[in-house]
Amino acid sequence: MTQYIGKPINRVDGLDKVTGKARYAAEFNVPELAYGVVISSAITKGKIVRIDASDALSLEGVLQVFTHENRPKLAWFDLSYKDQDAPPGSPFRPLHDEKIKYSGQPVALVVAETYEVARYAASLIQIEYEEEEHETSLEANKDRARKPKSGLASALKPPPPKPRGDFEEVFNAAPVRTISRYVHSVEHHNPMEMFATTVVYEKKGKLTIYDKTQGAPNSQLYVSQVFNIPFRDVRVISPYVGGAFGSALRPQYQLFLAVLAARELKRSVRVSLTRQQMFTFGHRPATNQTIALGANADGEMTAMYHEAISETSRFEDYTEVVVNWSGMLYPPENVILDYKLVPLDVYTPLDMRAPGGVTGVSALECAVDELAYKLGIDPLEFRLKNYTERDMNEDLPYSSKELRECFRQGAERFGWAKRNPEPRSMRNGSNLIGWGMATGIWDAMQMPARAEAVLMVNGKLRVSSATADIGTGTYTVMTQIAADTLGMPVEDVLFKLGDTELPLAPIQGGSWTVATVGSAVKAVCEDLGKTLFKLAKKLPGSPFSKVDYQDVVFLDKSIQLKADSALRVSLQDVVDSNGGRAVRETSTSLPNMLQQRKYARSVHSAVFAEVQIDEELGTVKVTRLVSAIAGGRIINPKTARSQIIGGMVWGISKALEEESVMDHQVGRFMNHSLAEYHVAVNADIHELDVVFVEEDDTIVNPLGAKGLGEIGIVGVPAAISNAVFHATGKRIRELPITLDKLL
Ligand code: MOS
Repeated sequence: MTQYIGKPINRVDGLDKVTGKARYAAEFNVPELAYGVVISSAITKGKIVRIDASDALSLEGVLQVFTHENRPKLAWFDLSYKDQDAPPGSPFRPLHDEKIKYSGQPVALVVAETYEVARYAASLIQIEYEEEEHETSLEANKDRARKPKSGLASALKPPPPKPRGDFEEVFNAAPVRTISRYVHSVEHHNPMEMFATTVVYEKKGKLTIYDKTQGAPNSQLYVSQVFNIPFRDVRVISPYVGGAFGSALRPQYQLFLAVLAARELKRSVRVSLTRQQMFTFGHRPATNQTIALGANADGEMTAMYHEAISETSRFEDYTEVVVNWSGMLYPPENVILDYKLVPLDVYTPLDMRAPGGVTGVSALECAVDELAYKLGIDPLEFRLKNYTERDMNEDLPYSSKELRECFRQGAERFGWAKRNPEPRSMRNGSNLIGWGMATGIWDAMQMPARAEAVLMVNGKLRVSSATADIGTGTYTVMTQIAADTLGMPVEDVLFKLGDTELPLAPIQGGSWTVATVGSAVKAVCEDLGKTLFKLAKKLPGSPFSKVDYQDVVFLDKSIQLKADSALRVSLQDVVDSNGGRAVRETSTSLPNMLQQRKYARSVHSAVFAEVQIDEELGTVKVTRLVSAIAGGRIINPKTARSQIIGGMVWGISKALEEESVMDHQVGRFMNHSLAEYHVAVNADIHELDVVFVEEDDTIVNPLGAKGLGEIGIVGVPAAISNAVFHATGKRIRELPITLDKLL
């Protein structure tokens, strides 16, 4: 009985967030808290030959300076250790030895009674380095590109499929061809909340850890393995996350350092990173892509080559799915997809919203636009002509794919039919106007998860799972699913997350949380419903004594006979009959692999962009952006729209602004502040329009919902790039499209 699913209800955590009641990792205060400040390496490669901490240690209030020289032996650094998002290789080990592997590597932790003293003490520490030559430029090292190592992570990030058909022959014979190269800059995560960990040192050395993470169980796994502490002695709590976007999928070094210090000093310790230090771990990698497309004179795409070369660190093979999407979105029979890595002296790159997807699809969808122009076919018409109902990589049908409807509704909303196809043909006074469009695709995944549901003695429902809410609306959506399944008002449902004491759930990533945890919440509420029904049957004078479970519904805080709603038992009466105890169930929800593997499962989008470009200044304004999404069932249109709008804003930001600029002489990202690393702000954002098209999917998961966290960004940079071409006649193949490239 659906009451809340599909309704745009407000965030249940909204009030706590706007009133400051919601607390984040660095806001949990405990008595005797000590503060750690991290010192970052001043060189990019080499080793530390001397650390002099004597001045710092003589300051009043300084408790200790931890370095590789005095780090305790207890830290266990098994190179086979993996966190839930670890790529193949050896995870970085902070303070392990004197070696420096990348610029900004943490080399010491100063711990003091106050943050101010720790920070001042950090400035007194003298470190001598011996430098070695480093290599940080992807461009200069492309000839070293090699295949990525495979590992466990390849299950979620599959390598490109084998070539099919005969690309070379068909491409060479094709009457219309394009070959182009696309270059993307490094980007860094800039969530509002800085990375921070507060470790509370409890009796007998037990730890309660408030960590910024996209999965409390992942941080627990890390601490437990690295420090060899039993799981039960490490509790990780993370009720709120101030944005993460992939950056908190892996435990970061402040967690290690805070735990190390707390255990050594036997007191509670907090370590917070600075905004500058947010540029010292993980980033969207620089990527260099080559795309060659061939079509016959009728505009059918017959040959496709898509190669991506990305950077990684020297110690891990960070991989993402960059090129596979091309083989899923278009039908040519002659295809080569290739993906290679170049290890550099940088930290391992890290998943960032739609990792690989936005990168690969941005390039592909520009290349497709180029081909459409060469053929003289409208870009939308070209896509419809080359539409595929099957994922050609796996040769599987889609569980659902309403992309055609996205094209139709998006185009209508945007007014695409009024477009003059000629570049430089549309103007507004002295400004050039451009209209461009692109397709988006992302996975619709489901993972295993557990959840608990408790009907409490006061008649309220408490549902929980150790998932996270990185701002996506998880609290709200899970509350809606639980409320609907058991016929409760949302006000009587409390959803808990972000605590390792709760039933296990995977990291919140890959846009899989609604499908994954939502399915677990639905399953556990159904299981609880069955238990409650059994208890209801046993009540004296029960109207259900001869009734089966399938003949009742849960509605208005009661169990009712479907055929006659007057025959009902209130849930309060049921729990009252349970001897003063709450009624609880825990369930595991597993994806139906047997069914799912017969289908490709994806979420799709069609994006339409209007840009206005000042020809003399080269400035680009995205005046209108329409995104039509086929995302299965929309559980909450309000939080769903927020996700898509967030992605569109970031798409604008990626297309026009975001770029971590490295000085390869020193091997360091130079614009490591929000003053110089530009992200889109209010003034950059104009009309944003989101359309959800209907999509019925009974395969993806029991809810029929597809994740919306990442699809919002995927098609946006290409739609903007294509609009810039339409406005100016200039094809800019390097992101971001800054004004210097347009002048
Ligand atoms: Mo996302 S990059 O899986 O948080």
